[in-house]
Amino acid sequence: MFHRQGPTLFELARQALSSVEHGYDLLAPKFEYTPFRTPDPVLRTSMEQVGPPGSIDRALDLCCGTGAAMRFLRPLCRQEVVGVDLSRGMLDEAQQRLADAPGEARITLVQGNALELSYASEFDVVTSFGAFGHILEQDEPRLVEVISRALRPGGRFVFVTAHPPSALNPGYWLAKGFNAAMRVRNALWNPPFVMYYLTFLVPRACELLEAQGFEVEVRDGLMPPPFTPFSIVIATKKASGARAPP
Ligand SMILES: C[S@@+](CC[C@H](N)C(=O)[O-])C[C@H]1O[C@@H](n2cnc3c(N)ncnc32)[C@H](O)[C@@H]1O
Repeated sequence: MFHRQGPTLFELARQALSSVEHGYDLLAPKFEYTPFRTPDPVLRTSMEQVGPPGSIDRALDLCCGTGAAMRFLRPLCRQEVVGVDLSRGMLDEAQQRLADAPGEARITLVQGNALELSYASEFDVVTSFGAFGHILEQDEPRLVEVISRALRPGGRFVFVTAHPPSALNPGYWLAKGFNAAMRVRNALWNPPFVMYYLTFLVPRACELLEAQGFEVEVRDGLMPPPFTPFSIVIATKKASGARAPP
């Protein structure tokens, strides 16, 4: 539908009638040819904000899919880059695709739910791209809590989101229409497929992160066209108990 090697409309419909996990298992072999895969220019620009090669020890990419972000994260890490995803199929693709990823850091792929992780003070950086729409609004505080726990004091959560669009923007109504259709689908059909647009936008993300004790910086205008409307958010976990130098 989107590309010669991408999924057909029928395959996408089948995916949308499955659970998130099974849907992505079905989509995995063709995922790279869909617009759901975060484009490289977005990932490259985001990782430039993280720092130079070899500047951190360990990073975690949540909802890593086929490993697109891990490919950019690996050279930044001295020790390990971990990717977590619900879908075994997506992780299998990631394993293959990351075989020639630049860098020396160990690559670890874990099947799991981003909302149920128990990492504690293990990572310098946590990232997540293109997946907030799969987290229900009521679960967002839990996601932020999991991320905060996983980071070392001073560690950063780096991600891309957008400011709320104007209601004059036709895309706004398209997204609202899609969300309404998804709510109807989920009311009528089991298992649910959680995917909603316009979630975890800048104001909501800042509110939740600040409530969890992060210092939040929103960097606008860094993305190359056509991605310029997107913001890079860097949320730093405050080093608790750290004292200002005398
Ligand atoms: C649109 S894809 C994005 C993949 C990749 N991050 C990228 O940007 O190309 C969303 C991914 O999130 C995963 N996912 C959805 N909900 C999840 C959850 N609760 N925990 C872990 N992974 C999840 C899906 O299996 C899928 O691989």
